[in-house]
Amino acid sequence: MTGRLDGTIAVVTGASSGIGAATARVLVAEGATVALLARRPDRLEALAAVLGDRAEVHPVDVADADAVRATIDTVVRDHGGLDVLVNNAGYGSMRRAARADFTEWRAMVDVNLVGVLAATHAALPHLLRAAAGPRGVADVVSVSSTAGRTVSGPGSNVYAATKHAVHAFSESLRLECASRHVRVALVAPGLVTTAMTDSGRRDAPDASTASPLGSLRPDDVADAIRHVLTRPPRVAVHELVLRPIEQVR
Ligand SMILES: NC(=O)c1ccc[n+]([C@@H]2O[C@H](COP(=O)([O-])OP(=O)(O)OC[C@H]3O[C@@H](n4cnc5c(N)ncnc54)[C@H](OP(=O)(O)O)[C@@H]3O)[C@@H](O)[C@H]2O)c1
Repeated sequence: MTGRLDGTIAVVTGASSGIGAATARVLVAEGATVALLARRPDRLEALAAVLGDRAEVHPVDVADADAVRATIDTVVRDHGGLDVLVNNAGYGSMRRAARADFTEWRAMVDVNLVGVLAATHAALPHLLRAAAGPRGVADVVSVSSTAGRTVSGPGSNVYAATKHAVHAFSESLRLECASRHVRVALVAPGLVTTAMTDSGRRDAPDASTASPLGSLRPDDVADAIRHVLTRPPRVAVHELVLRPIEQVR
């Protein structure tokens, strides 16, 4: 079967787990070559072993902007370009402000915001070049959250602030890049069952509005990202919000 992303080169941050790993699986299945970025090499190696030759491992901390740039430059050097950036790496600590540890606040800003900025800044010149090539478009997809549009409950504080910032940045980038055919999209899920929600953060803003019917699966979000990336060049999906069926905010 011919994949709809045959011949494309993609970078997925936070590919060692959850939504990022599911997204890497989808992109490889659609024919892309995928650079898997995250800090844990063992997890990336295990995923790459399953995905085969079109998945490659790049251990990196997205909060380290120089390291992210070096990684993206390596991918471009090895493959001749970059078509897709999926900004997915994220961290959430949902403690109420009075009980919060400031290092957790800083980590959320570093991963959820600085990480997105670092990868996007490093990737953008390459994406602009790719969009002027035969595919006719290139893509930045950032995995945000319903917490990027509304502050749904106590404990959202810095997590929601970082996701709101990603929304603002993305919208501005979209305006700047539209005429050069780099599509800029946000995929904003509600509660998803992943390590982030399994690790005891039950007072998370997304979790606080969770449906009794449960939560989304990482594959549901990966499928939304697939939808964004496989539209014809004339179609730019700017924002996809998906929630478990009864989650209202
Ligand atoms: N789960 C939910 O309910 C939910 C809802 C809405 C939005 N989201 C968003 O979805 C995205 C993915 O989260 P997830 O739910 O799939 O959680 P997850 O399973 O915990 O995955 C988080 C990923 O981010 C990576 N990461 C964290 N810090 C990093 C750093 N400093 N440098 C590089 N990679 C880093 C982790 O890899 P390493 O630890 O190996 O570095 C891991 O691959 C996040 O942006 C999150 O905010 C999640």
